[in-house]
This record gives sequence, C-alpha cells and structure tokens, in this order.
Amino acid sequence: MMTLEDQTLNLYDRNAESYKTRTDHINLEDHYDRVIRFLGGRKGKVLDLGCGPGRDSKFFIDSGFSVTSVDGSRAMIDLVSKVNENSRLLKFENLDYCCEFDLVWSSASLLHIEKEKIRSVLELIRDSLSLGGVFYLSLKEGKKNFIDDQGRYFSTYEMDELEAILESVDGFKIAKIWRQESLVTHTEEQQVWLGAVVVRG
Ligand SMILES: C[S@@+](CC[C@H](N)C(=O)[O-])C[C@H]1O[C@@H](n2cnc3c(N)ncnc32)[C@H](O)[C@@H]1O
Repeated sequence: MMTLEDQTLNLYDRNAESYKTRTDHINLEDHYDRVIRFLGGRKGKVLDLGCGPGRDSKFFIDSGFSVTSVDGSRAMIDLVSKVNENSRLLKFENLDYCCEFDLVWSSASLLHIEKEKIRSVLELIRDSLSLGGVFYLSLKEGKKNFIDDQGRYFSTYEMDELEAILESVDGFKIAKIWRQESLVTHTEEQQVWLGAVVVRG
C-alpha cells in the first residue's frame, strides 16, 4: 500500500518545476543569519535535507559551505543537480550519515512526515550531526494534520508540542524557537510557521 509519504513524493515528482517557480524567489536571509550565527564562524559541511529545487543549497554553496543536497523526489534531485553535483535521492526515513555535518538545514520539509515517525527521523538527523552541530527546521503551525488540494500530506505542530518532541531526542538542546507569518503571503495568508535551531550536545 502507498504511504502518505510516498503519495506526497509522487506529487513533488509531478510538480517540481512549478514548485521551483513558486518558491525560488523567497528571501530567507533572516533565517540564514539566525542559523549561521550558531556555527561560530565555521564554514563546514551542510546537509540540505528535503532540499527541493535547491534555492538554499545554492545559498550555502555561494557562501563557501560544502553542501550535500538530499531529497526523496527524483524530479527535485534532477533540479538541484543543476546547482549542486553533490546531491542524493534519499528518503528522510533512510538517512544513513554518521557525525558528518556541521549543519542540517531542513526548510519546510519534515512537515511531510507522519507524526508517529517524526521522532525516529529526528534521531537519524541527530546521528548525522557532528558534536556541537546545528539543526534548523521549519514547520507549519496547527492543530490538525491535513492533505492539501494538490494531495500532499502535512503534519502540523503547536509550539509546545514541537518543543517537547525536540527536547525528547537524546543529545538535542533547543537554542532558539520562534513563530512567524508565512513568507508566501499570496497563497497562505493565514499560515503561521514554527522555526527552531537545535544544537547536538
Ligand atoms: C515544501 S518542499 C521544501 C523544499 C525546500 N526545502 C524549500 O524550502 O523550498 C518539501 C520537500 O521535501 C521533500 N520530501 C517530502 N517528503 C520526503 C521524504 N519522506 N523524504 C525525503 N524528501 C521528502 C519533497 O520532495 C520536497 O522537495
């Protein structure tokens, strides 16, 4: 039987180009600054997890980082390969890195994981970080999980819930957590997002 994750990945395979058109211009400068300051000047290795077409991978490459771009959608990997030859088709659930990255950057991607699986994916992310490594994620705030009009599955979180899940992962310490309005105002006027920076101790 097809899982909600696979159904969502099929949608991204079919709509990768239109997703790129809708999101390539989004300005995440504030977020980059907010996260990079926790690296203490290190220009190390970044895992762009659920990289999509590669807007953020390109930013980190241009800023001097060594970037691995990972996504579960073949079509997204084809797009990101144009900006980063170091890209890999892989599902979050199958992450297999060990102590390798200074930063795992996960913008608007872990929200496609069903809640009962999120903790095990977070543990794989922790394992992929070096000690003192930094993890950034953004997710939609909300009380109900849903399937959108394109057929993509979304888990949503309340701030307290997200805090509790992150703190429950051995070795994770929340450095910063915040709420903010959507940066894509024309399509999601009411959507509030949660962002967090977590450090592996
Ligand atoms: C909303 S897009 C975000 C893309 C990019 N990070 C950005 O900020 O524009 C979600 C991305 O997560 C990927 N994705 C969704 N579920 C996945 C899974 N189970 N494993 C790996 N990638 C997944 C999708 O293919 C898509 O590229």
